[in-house]
Amino acid sequence: MKSFTLFAAAVALYAKATAAVGVNGAAEGFAKGVTGGGSATPVYPSTTAELVSYLSDDVARVIVLTKTFDFTGTEGTTTSTGCAPWGTASGCQVAIDQNSWCANYEPNAPTVSVSYDNAGVLGMLVGSNKSLLGYGSTGVIKGKGIRMVSGASNIIIQNVMITDINPQYVWGGDAITINDADMIWIDHVTTSLIGRQHIVLGTSASNRVTISNSYIDGYSQWSATCDTYHYWGLYFDGSNDLVTLKGNYIYHTSGRSPKVQGNTLLHAVNNYWYDNTGHAFEIGTGAYVVAEGNVFQNIAVVAESPIDGELFTAPSTTANAACSTYLGHTCQLNGFGSSGTFSQDDTAFFSDFSGKNVASAAAYTTVVSSVTANAGYGIVTY
Ligand SMILES: *[C@@H]1O[C@H](CO)[C@@H](O)[C@H](O)[C@H]1NC(C)=O
Repeated sequence: MKSFTLFAAAVALYAKATAAVGVNGAAEGFAKGVTGGGSATPVYPSTTAELVSYLSDDVARVIVLTKTFDFTGTEGTTTSTGCAPWGTASGCQVAIDQNSWCANYEPNAPTVSVSYDNAGVLGMLVGSNKSLLGYGSTGVIKGKGIRMVSGASNIIIQNVMITDINPQYVWGGDAITINDADMIWIDHVTTSLIGRQHIVLGTSASNRVTISNSYIDGYSQWSATCDTYHYWGLYFDGSNDLVTLKGNYIYHTSGRSPKVQGNTLLHAVNNYWYDNTGHAFEIGTGAYVVAEGNVFQNIAVVAESPIDGELFTAPSTTANAACSTYLGHTCQLNGFGSSGTFSQDDTAFFSDFSGKNVASAAAYTTVVSSVTANAGYGIVTY
């Protein structure tokens, strides 16, 4: 009886899944128009090898995850000597000596033995024209991240959780890497327990990227700040990057949330930053940032000093009218609770928004309830 029930449930899930699984909604902002695998017949990988193959081949695909794909142990483990730049207390992350990082950057740090899972270090490749969708709340990738192929375009990742990538080790692996790409949409993705960056855009041009409704969960037992708050959140480097960051929940981090530099235009709108012991924004040379309609709650330092790039924080209703010409709307004020200051009004770069798709902005007063109800994986239905 029991096995029959399970079988019937599996058939029901399969029948439902095969009926009409396709991307839910459409990207807003810079990556508007992205289609991913379009109307390709969905495929349902059953093994990690099959998932790797579907993601990397040269076929437009809609790939639906209906279970946890656990890469832990699939590529063996390595035990070697690393270093402990932040100390050896049990709550501290320690570093793998990747590319002699310890000797080059932390020569005075004590050495420690590290033992990590090889699969986590490098993400699996994702080629052009792919939709990677999680079914219900079943779509989990454990122990390995994803990396867009150099030159890839037109990719949608929606309703997926990426978790448990060597969280105790810096250089243990990133969850999502984009470098030399175009038209990428990350939507309703949850990242948690990551060794290095939750999302990283490398030094090459990532062009048009939208990151929306996602949950960057920085809680970790191991942290570079030794306080359960993950330091390596979002890193937007680049050379011609246009990043829309909308409706995301950026929780319990202590740095790089985000770090922006290298000719990157960032529109951060209607996000909810909650609980940060270090800093949220790091704004380096070549960063051009409009931050509007966001909520910062318990963010000790909203932007680290110095701010080397250009920044518009939507500081007043009078100043915010300047957004209209190039962003197509009057900018929305940000909301602050128990947080540091964030006030700058550079506008010379607004013309960079010219001719681009720009996300709309709601009042910050709507953000906490909408983000806490909508951000992360397991919410989208197909
Ligand atoms: C992606 O799809 C576009 C449009 O159909 C096509 O021109 C391009 O060659 C595809 N890219 C790859 C790598 O298959």
